[in-house]
Amino acid sequence: MSLLKTKFVEKAVPAAADFKKLLKEYGNVEIGKVTIESALEGMKGIPALLCLTSKLDSNEGIRFRGYSIPELQEKLPKLSPNDEPLPEGLFYLMLLGEIPTMSDVEEISKEWKKRAIIPKHVYAVIDAMPKESAPMADFSAAILALATESEFLKAYNAGVGKKDYWDSTYEDAMNLLAQLPVIAAYIYRKHFFNGEVIAADPSLDWSANLAHMMGFDSPEIYKLFRLYLTIHADHEGGNVSAHATHLVASALSNPYYSYAAGMLGLAGPLHGYANQEVIAWVQDMIKEIGTETPSKQQIHDFCEKTIAAGRVIPGYGHAVLRKTDPRFEAQREFAGKYCEGDSFIQIINDLYEVVPPILGSLGKVKNPWPNVDAYSGSLLMHYGIKEAPFYTVMFGVSRALGVLASILWDRALGMQIERPSSFTMEWFKEKAGI
Ligand SMILES: CC(C)(COP(=O)(O)OP(=O)(O)OC[C@H]1O[C@@H](n2cnc3c(N)ncnc32)[C@H](O)[C@@H]1OP(=O)(O)O)[C@@H](O)C(=O)NCCC(=O)NCCS
Repeated sequence: MSLLKTKFVEKAVPAAADFKKLLKEYGNVEIGKVTIESALEGMKGIPALLCLTSKLDSNEGIRFRGYSIPELQEKLPKLSPNDEPLPEGLFYLMLLGEIPTMSDVEEISKEWKKRAIIPKHVYAVIDAMPKESAPMADFSAAILALATESEFLKAYNAGVGKKDYWDSTYEDAMNLLAQLPVIAAYIYRKHFFNGEVIAADPSLDWSANLAHMMGFDSPEIYKLFRLYLTIHADHEGGNVSAHATHLVASALSNPYYSYAAGMLGLAGPLHGYANQEVIAWVQDMIKEIGTETPSKQQIHDFCEKTIAAGRVIPGYGHAVLRKTDPRFEAQREFAGKYCEGDSFIQIINDLYEVVPPILGSLGKVKNPWPNVDAYSGSLLMHYGIKEAPFYTVMFGVSRALGVLASILWDRALGMQIERPSSFTMEWFKEKAGI
């Protein structure tokens, strides 16, 4: 058994006992109140999910197992002092709650390289998707096609008992994480480079290999990919992709089905698709104004026009955050270091000045500040990855780290099927006293 798996089971056994004790002895303790608004406006704020991997504070932003993004940048193993953290290390941290050593990270890297085997029929499924299908649709179809390999499915069908579900789930999670960059790069090359595939380079880490297989090789791009795949990995349990993965997994669907469900949620414009929309929207702005260097006033007028048309400003606002997203800040810092003089990035920076007062003045937007998607595409554009419809796939590869670590814990803790109650409109009106 690998060291990671051994350590996981060592932590999981006492944690499962704690979980059962909490339920048995304190199951009837009240932990929050539910209002009509919280129920009917997307269940926001209702304390109804357990998530071990990360916690989102509305003012401070995300912490992964207690560590902020700057702390991850300082503490997680890196290839050199000025590099970004290796996301392999973040997976270790999210799974075990401990900062790994470089040798822990190297072991994961080695294991993912070994497991990155894609059955032929998965490529056939991607190839069969029409050119006009969205990369996210290809990605989700490929993940479903990979489910033929599910160890969980095999173990379940062979009659494995509940307490061992975590074991085959671990195998699926590790296999999927190994397979995803290969699948993603294949989809990228199919859509935008006539299907000319680039093989993985066994000397590279997980992130750099994704860049390499997509056709981009430079120390700076590798660094950007390490940052990108780190900061998109998790955003506690209630966001659409994490929650969808957890919900579907709660029915004992295998990790491939569960993660594919999460990806279909990530593909929505109010979630991960926003990273593509930002680019399309800024490109529309440039086209309409007729210059790549619009003034702040011109940017302002374009924003007002977007709002007047009943559309949202993509990349701004958040269901939980009430301040600038630290994932936005991390990318802005990267751009400040490496992308000086880029006119597209300048527009993104100008939007940061222009948009919040506009959204604030509407009086209804709870968070006028930018989220992760406001910046990510512009950095990829800077390095020549200009195919925005692919960006959500990259987000999805990263998000796998968090949601797969989480469903592994779901199995280890023996969590039950998720089944909240629904009520009729009459019931809500009666509760309201109408
Ligand atoms: C992220 C988002 C879906 C959160 O939604 P939410 O929790 O319902 O946000 P709020 O409670 O602040 O929404 C209140 C109102 O402000 C509007 N609003 C929120 N963000 C807005 C934005 N960026 N531009 C314009 N209007 C916005 C909402 O559409 C809503 O309007 P309505 O009452 O007419 O329906 C929303 O801010 C949004 O659509 N942002 C743009 C898309 C995006 O960047 N998504 C990625 C999120 S990480």
